[in-house]
Amino acid sequence: MKALVYHGPGHKEWEHAPDPKITDPTDVIVQVDTTTICGTDLHILKGDVPAVTQGRILGHEGVGTIIETGEAVTNLAVGNRVIISCITSCGSCSYCRQQLPAHCLNDEGTSGLGWIFGHLIDGTQAEYVRVPFAENSLHKLPEGVSDESAIMLCDILPTGFEIGVRNGRVKPGDVVAVIGAGPVGLAAMMTAGLYGASRIIAIDLDDNRVDQAKVFGATDAVNNGDAGWKDAVLAMTDGLGVDVAIEAVGVPATFHMATELVRPGGTVANVGVHGASVELRLQDLWIKDVAITTGLVSATTTPMLLRLVSQGKLTPEMFVSHRFTFDGILDAYDTFAQAAQTKALKVTISR
Ligand SMILES: NC(=O)c1ccc[n+]([C@@H]2O[C@H](COP(=O)([O-])OP(=O)(O)OC[C@H]3O[C@@H](n4cnc5c(N)ncnc54)[C@H](O)[C@@H]3O)[C@@H](O)[C@H]2O)c1
Ligand SMILES: [Zn+2]
Ligand SMILES: [Zn+2]
Repeated sequence: MKALVYHGPGHKEWEHAPDPKITDPTDVIVQVDTTTICGTDLHILKGDVPAVTQGRILGHEGVGTIIETGEAVTNLAVGNRVIISCITSCGSCSYCRQQLPAHCLNDEGTSGLGWIFGHLIDGTQAEYVRVPFAENSLHKLPEGVSDESAIMLCDILPTGFEIGVRNGRVKPGDVVAVIGAGPVGLAAMMTAGLYGASRIIAIDLDDNRVDQAKVFGATDAVNNGDAGWKDAVLAMTDGLGVDVAIEAVGVPATFHMATELVRPGGTVANVGVHGASVELRLQDLWIKDVAITTGLVSATTTPMLLRLVSQGKLTPEMFVSHRFTFDGILDAYDTFAQAAQTKALKVTISR
């Protein structure tokens, strides 16, 4: 088969790789019909994730068709169309049973981490992929759900919902600010309405993304490069701040913005992956009764989100900005990496 192989920082190639084989009876082999690129893949390519070793096939999002099943697999069959979750879970360890498969204790990849595709085992940016613990790691696709919708349920939609909206404890009537209007922030905006937020304020430095946010469910949009942006946000509240501030960038400045915008008694939900140390100004925050949450997506809400997609209540196919075929995957990376110029949001790569 052909696959996108990592060859150390700055180097990748679409090249021949051995076909994946079933190694455990709970595995299946999936023919990848559509995959996509995540900001995390760009971090890996920069060398920011040293656990990814040379020769690793990248990618942790995919939609495909089962072509082979292991002996122990009973509820999936050859020919099933499936979503490949970014989180692989054994289903039986204590974390899986607590609905936190992000920390699955099985030692496939490594014990304690459910994100292993394109990280610690070969991933989905390939013609075929081996999926461990397939019955827990795949979701069968109902008829009528397109690959383009389904691919958003592998990672970005559950991330925005679980780590942003649900950790942020959004409740009916809340005013929610989402800092960062990339795919993950937009996914939080798209799903904040599920819990009845009255106002969803998108905040970003990129005018294109600020403009786009309203299509994804934001009621208001602010460019924090503009003078007076903070007063503009506070004016959208009763003056005391937002109920929930969701950080979806991953740099110290935006975490501080979230803590400054939140009202006393509110919640800061950090979604961004931070590569540098962030100062926590507890001296200001304790007296505000602020709760701060963090997390790695577990993708346990994918079945619920899939039901809403199949009912037409969520339309995540709107994230797709550019479409490529597998032999154009290197162009897909270039387009995605230059989002400010290309206005890319999610790029799909299909067979
Ligand atoms: N917690 C998890 O499980 C999890 C899962 C997936 C992704 N993430 C993280 O979520 C974050 C967002 O992911 P994404 O794919 O949407 O990223 P992205 O890079 O596509 O989007 C980030 C957005 O932030 C904006 N931005 C940058 N600096 C800013 C600033 N100072 N003020 C305001 N806006 C600013 C950019 O213009 C961009 O629109 C990343 O840190 C990613 O690693 C976390
Ligand atoms: Zn991802
Ligand atoms: Zn487990």
